[in-house]
Amino acid sequence: MIPQSLPHPSPVRGGRLIAVASGKGGVGKTWLAITLAHALALAGRRVLLVDADFGLANVDVQLGLEPAHALPAVLAGRLPVVEAARPLPAVGFDILAGCSGSGALAGLDEAAHRRLSDALREVGPRWEDVVLDLGAGLDRGVRALAAASDILLVVATGEPTSLTDAYAVLKLHRRDRPGGDARLVVNQATDRAAGERTWRSLDRACGSFLGGGVQLAGILRRDPRVPEAIRRQTAYLSRHPASPLASEVDALRASL
Ligand SMILES: Nc1ncnc2c1ncn2[C@@H]1O[C@H](COP(=O)(O)OP(=O)(O)OP(=O)(O)O)[C@@H](O)[C@H]1O
Ligand SMILES: [Mg+2]
Repeated sequence: MIPQSLPHPSPVRGGRLIAVASGKGGVGKTWLAITLAHALALAGRRVLLVDADFGLANVDVQLGLEPAHALPAVLAGRLPVVEAARPLPAVGFDILAGCSGSGALAGLDEAAHRRLSDALREVGPRWEDVVLDLGAGLDRGVRALAAASDILLVVATGEPTSLTDAYAVLKLHRRDRPGGDARLVVNQATDRAAGERTWRSLDRACGSFLGGGVQLAGILRRDPRVPEAIRRQTAYLSRHPASPLASEVDALRASL
């Protein structure tokens, strides 16, 4: 059955919401959300990174932070986002962490996701950019947060399954948020030409079947220093600020 369109979000009152989604898991959403938040902060923006992967939150793991349980309190309405967020001086942005490994937020319904997007829209001028790391999959909660975002970054690799999942995300997003701003990020590309081929094949499919192509937000190369930085639980841009991949992330940041 084709799901109905989701209700449209309320007008933006806080910072701009940038959501990172993919459909397929393991393509690099969490790494990109962290690294984009970092790039925005380095460019002088006030940034909040939200671990909105309720099932398998792991922003804190990638950054080597002590686990915090702020998100459940926000979702329960016990704590406003501005009090729940904590600063990360090493990277220059704030974080609203999930509950890695606890499973405490797994299975939360669409209403909880909607409460989160409403709470993020109430944050006022404190943050200019709110970056959301969404979970894999296409459940209604993920869709609700994607539809509430101002910019949806859909991450895909060149793998066929990743592309079909990215297509499904774009298709549902056009239904949930007609006229919304969804863009493709090709991650783990072997080179620029391969990344462009990945984008073109998705662009063609969207053009043929969804009534319009998809904008390319950026092509990010595969870099073995990414898993290495994650293993060391340090931010990639802190370890490799002058790498080609860092420049590609910064070009993506500048294009937003
Ligand atoms: N540009 C890249 N180059 C090399 N490896 C990468 C790159 N981006 C991501 N990875 C690797 O891909 C793996 C998955 O990354 P990450 O956890 O960010 O993906 P995810 O989409 O958030 O996964 P999940 O769906 O499980 O939440 C990590 O091991 C990471 O090191
Ligand atoms: Mg993730």
